[in-house]
Amino acid sequence: MTLPTDETPATAEDPTAPVRFPAGFLWGAATAAYQIEGAAREDGRTPSIWDTFSHTPGKVTGGDTGDVACDHYHRWRADVALMAELGLGAYRFSTSWPRVQPGGRGPASQRGLDFYRALTDELLAAGITPALTLYHWDLPQELEDAGGWPARETAYRFAEYAGIVADALGDRVELWTTLNEPWCSAFLGYGSGVHAPGRTDPVAALRAAHHLNLGHGLAVQALRAALPARARVTVSLNPAAVRPRTGSPADQDAARRIDALATRVFTGPMLHGRYDEDLLADTARVTDWSFVRDGDPGLAGQPLDCLCVNYYTPTVVSTAPEGTVPERRDGHGAGAHSPWPGADRVAFHQLPGERTAMGWSIDPGGLRDLLLRFHREAPGTPLYVTENGAAYPDEPDADGRFHDPARIAYVHRHLEAVHEAIRQGADVRGYFVWSLLDNFEWAWGYGKRFGLVHVDYATQRRTPKSSAAWYARLARSGTLPPPA
Ligand code: FCB
Repeated sequence: MTLPTDETPATAEDPTAPVRFPAGFLWGAATAAYQIEGAAREDGRTPSIWDTFSHTPGKVTGGDTGDVACDHYHRWRADVALMAELGLGAYRFSTSWPRVQPGGRGPASQRGLDFYRALTDELLAAGITPALTLYHWDLPQELEDAGGWPARETAYRFAEYAGIVADALGDRVELWTTLNEPWCSAFLGYGSGVHAPGRTDPVAALRAAHHLNLGHGLAVQALRAALPARARVTVSLNPAAVRPRTGSPADQDAARRIDALATRVFTGPMLHGRYDEDLLADTARVTDWSFVRDGDPGLAGQPLDCLCVNYYTPTVVSTAPEGTVPERRDGHGAGAHSPWPGADRVAFHQLPGERTAMGWSIDPGGLRDLLLRFHREAPGTPLYVTENGAAYPDEPDADGRFHDPARIAYVHRHLEAVHEAIRQGADVRGYFVWSLLDNFEWAWGYGKRFGLVHVDYATQRRTPKSSAAWYARLARSGTLPPPA
């Protein structure tokens, strides 16, 4: 087996060798606009679907909203200084569509673009590579009112917005991601309704998935037209590491159906320019897919410079007996409506053993398997892990310090899995921990803390947890420190 560089000595035969990552491996942390920025009504920003959703009673735990969040919109300079202290090589953030282009159509907001210009300049001055995501779920409310992602027009609006951001920041950002986890946008937003905009219509969910694919393809074209040749364009998917609960043919078929709806509905068009026949057949009683026009899947399949994987927990499934109502577990809250159109007789399970505060089971092998799958499916395409991390309660000790050994252990084990994928040939170039800061965890509000850095929401005080110090050692050395 060929190692990516000759500086990677650890082998399966020598488990005591230090786990060292290839030279130039990018160590980063990730956030998203709505989860940290706050300043929801400042400088011309208009509401996104998440503003509307979070202000709707009963949608978010505790009635939390992103109105203030981590107040990053005002504290960005100090936050970049914190990143520099942690020795981060890269920072993944998203631009807020309604901040950049209020209302989702028409002219750009100069003040919105200035914010991201200043942020990226500060990052570059600190030697931190900016990795920009165009869409991390904050669709301008006006576009939802006009039909949202189930409407074809939204794909064209997205490409226009991508062009605006590329014109403004193309000279300073090299790594461009179109969409973050389109599965969540389509199936949690329009299927189960546990995410904004909270619709529960299986047809709308599949239409949204298609228009996200189309919007991705159109945005890649818009980015290519506007960006310098050195820019790299990608997408961050959350493919499911699907495991059938048993080897029975019925459970394996449940796994196949969920793999189609979780992963291949996006990788089909984006990587191969097609929708798989089994996906179309499985969902035939929901829709005839007549909203797909000739040439759309091919358009979605634009060449990408790298591929990005977000991963937290495996998806263990079995077939559910006829007549039972399966638990609609999807990793982001269980709603009354299924996020899996056409796959009603599937039950979801957790693995025995330890779980994070999200209730998610821990299975680093899932990340390794997904990286190896993308390596096989998109040979020669560099890979990044753009999200991975864990929520824990994180109580302070008597001195006000936050010791989070469970988070360190989680990240440590997943990085061992990344390293194993590299050892088996996957060209993984970087890893972004989710998240830099505790933040607004969507339908869960502020109760779930994923940060390397604790945020006291009453004072906005930032306190690095012990995981931050551990990750800083890793970022500086490129060698996995012991988890303790
Ligand atoms: C991912 C989201 C990210 C964060 C993590 C925990 O699905 O992309 O914003 O909420 O889950």
